[in-house]
Amino acid sequence: MNIRYDNRPIGIFDSGLGGLTIARAVQEELPGESVIYLGDTARVPYGDKSVDAIMSYAHDDVQFMLSKGVKLIVAACNTVSAVALESLHRDFPDAAIIGVIESGVKAALSTGARSIAVIGTRATINSDAYRRELHRQDHSLKVDSIACPLLVPLAEEGLTAGAVLNGVFDFYLKQYQAAPPDALLLGCTHYPLFRNALNEYFGGKVHLIDSAKACALAVREYLTENQKTAQPDNTPYHRYFVSDLAAEFNEHATRFLGKLPARVEKTVL
Ligand code: DGL
Repeated sequence: MNIRYDNRPIGIFDSGLGGLTIARAVQEELPGESVIYLGDTARVPYGDKSVDAIMSYAHDDVQFMLSKGVKLIVAACNTVSAVALESLHRDFPDAAIIGVIESGVKAALSTGARSIAVIGTRATINSDAYRRELHRQDHSLKVDSIACPLLVPLAEEGLTAGAVLNGVFDFYLKQYQAAPPDALLLGCTHYPLFRNALNEYFGGKVHLIDSAKACALAVREYLTENQKTAQPDNTPYHRYFVSDLAAEFNEHATRFLGKLPARVEKTVL
C-alpha cells in the first residue's frame, strides 16, 4: 500500500498569545510538522466579547489560515472552540478545523474524576460547551462551571504567583478550597501558567487538566488517519503571525511557548 504524505503546515490560531501553549505541545509531539501560528493580538481578548463578534473574528482567523495553505486548522482558543466552532464548520465545509473542548474533556475523563469544575472566560462558560460535552460523555458527572475573567490579564501581566493572584483565586474559587472537585479543567489557553499556583491553592488535592497535550494527540490522530503527516525527511518551519504589537510578542511569548519564537510577522486580518 502506498503511504501518502502532506508537507503543508498545520495552522494554529488564538486570540493572542495563550494558544502558544497548544503550539508548544504540537511542536513537541510532532517535531517533523511545520506550524503557522496566528495570534489576533489586535482584538484580544475574545472572552469578554459578544458571540457575534467572536464568530466574526474566528472567521477572519480561518480565512487567514486558508490563505496560507494549511492542511489542518486548530482553534487553540477555548472561547472560539466553545462559541464559534459549529459556525466555522458550516461556513468552511471543506476545511479541516478542530477545537480544544473535546481534547480537554477527554483529558479530564482519563483521570477518572467524578466531580469536575471547569474554569474559563465569560464567553466560554456562558456557552456551556464544556458542561455539555462532559455530560454527553457521562451524564452522571458532577460539573460546575466558573467564569474567571480576571485570570487572563494576570497571566498576560506575568502575575502567576503571589498575593494578588491568590486574592483572585479566593474571589472565584474559595468555596472549592474547602471541598475540592476531583479535577479542575483549565478551559482557557492562559490558565496552564497558573498550574503551580493552583496546585498550591488546592494543596495538591485536585487534578489540573489542560487540553494542550490531548489536543496535540488529536492533531496526530487526524494526520495519521487522513494520511496527512509530513514526510519523514521534511524540514519543518515555524512561523508566527500577529495582528498587532509584533515587537512586544517575543517578550511575552516565551512564557507560553517555552522558547523564543523564531520570527514574528505582522499581518492584517
Ligand atoms: N484564548 C482565550 C481562551 O482560551 C483567552 C483569551 C481571550 O479571552 O481572548 O478562551
